[in-house]
Amino acid sequence: MTTTELAQGIYSVGAIDWDVRDFHGYSTYRGTTYNAFLIIDEKITLIDTVKRSHLDQLLRNIRTIIEPEKIDYLIVNHVEMDHSGSLPAMMELIKPEKLFCSPMGQKAIIEHFHRPDWPYEVVKSGNEISLGKRTISFLETRMLHWPDSMFSYLKEEKILFSSDAFGQHFASSERFDDEVDLSVVMQESAKYYANILYPYSPLIRKLLASVAEMNLDIRMIAPDHGVIWRSHMETILNAYGRWSRNEAENRALVIYDSMWHSTEEMAHAIGAGLQETGVGVAMINLKYHHRSDVMTQVLGAKAIVIGSSTLNNGLLPQMAGFLMYMRGLKPAGKLAAAFGSFGWSGEAVALINSALTDMKIELVEEGLRHKYVPDAACLAECTAMGKRIGARVLNGSAD
Ligand code: FEO
Repeated sequence: MTTTELAQGIYSVGAIDWDVRDFHGYSTYRGTTYNAFLIIDEKITLIDTVKRSHLDQLLRNIRTIIEPEKIDYLIVNHVEMDHSGSLPAMMELIKPEKLFCSPMGQKAIIEHFHRPDWPYEVVKSGNEISLGKRTISFLETRMLHWPDSMFSYLKEEKILFSSDAFGQHFASSERFDDEVDLSVVMQESAKYYANILYPYSPLIRKLLASVAEMNLDIRMIAPDHGVIWRSHMETILNAYGRWSRNEAENRALVIYDSMWHSTEEMAHAIGAGLQETGVGVAMINLKYHHRSDVMTQVLGAKAIVIGSSTLNNGLLPQMAGFLMYMRGLKPAGKLAAAFGSFGWSGEAVALINSALTDMKIELVEEGLRHKYVPDAACLAECTAMGKRIGARVLNGSAD
């Protein structure tokens, strides 16, 4: 990433990571960026740093504008290592007059870097600081998605530095939403929401309401990953509204893993029944789909029908891993049912039901189990189950 001027004297100086393909279990096929922003004012201010591996890119970019040692203020909107990994090196080099962070941010920085001696200035929601000609106002966004997270709003330029919110894991040399393919950016935004922010949907609903109440005049939203929103802010804000309200399409997913194709045959019969009702269907064999892509589809679907063969009294490992992953992301407002083939003990369906119940997902069926290879009667039952679930999708969701 070279530098880009967002407004006079305000620069994007972060780094592009073209190569990252795994982000703690989330597949990042399009790489990512670690955004950081430099404000040239009486107090020269840097908002966020970058992952430790990308420090050189950050420094190179800053040096095209000023010597880093001239930075007076450092603002940490979020302590996760992809934004703070370079903080110790930057503190050493810059020796800033002040390091601004939220109360939880100060605790997290000390617990990460063991430097209680840094010049912390703790800020809370509504606090403002003057940079000279410009003012920054802070808004704590606890648990979005870490306890320390906060937004910084540059009042005069109307730029909201939103940390991880509204971000995308999307590496591009272009810096703005209107310079890239919007459908790709929205797809990556949905994936980001589904895999990072999904559990915090109730908080996001409140945050969107309080930002609306504050009547903030926002000209640009600058997240810490991906492109900056300046032309399509309404598109991303509306999407966050829909996702956080658990609004989904009349769509069902059949998510399964199978040992010897019996569970797979059941899956396709269920899918055929769903299709007969007219709902959109996606068949998702976990052997071929990454869990984080599956979660993106879960975000947009009203029903999930989940199947696994029984293996050693349990689930197939891909399914066990997927359910554990989905459980943490707490998808709400879904209809669900389970199915699966077995040889002798057949615990898989009960285990899936139990996992879904733990997630507070509404089970609309007891589930279908079949010993060994499905016959025509079993497949007809599967199709009938698909039709019943399809009818529920069309007639009203779990909400
Ligand atoms: Fe991009 Fe939560 O770090």
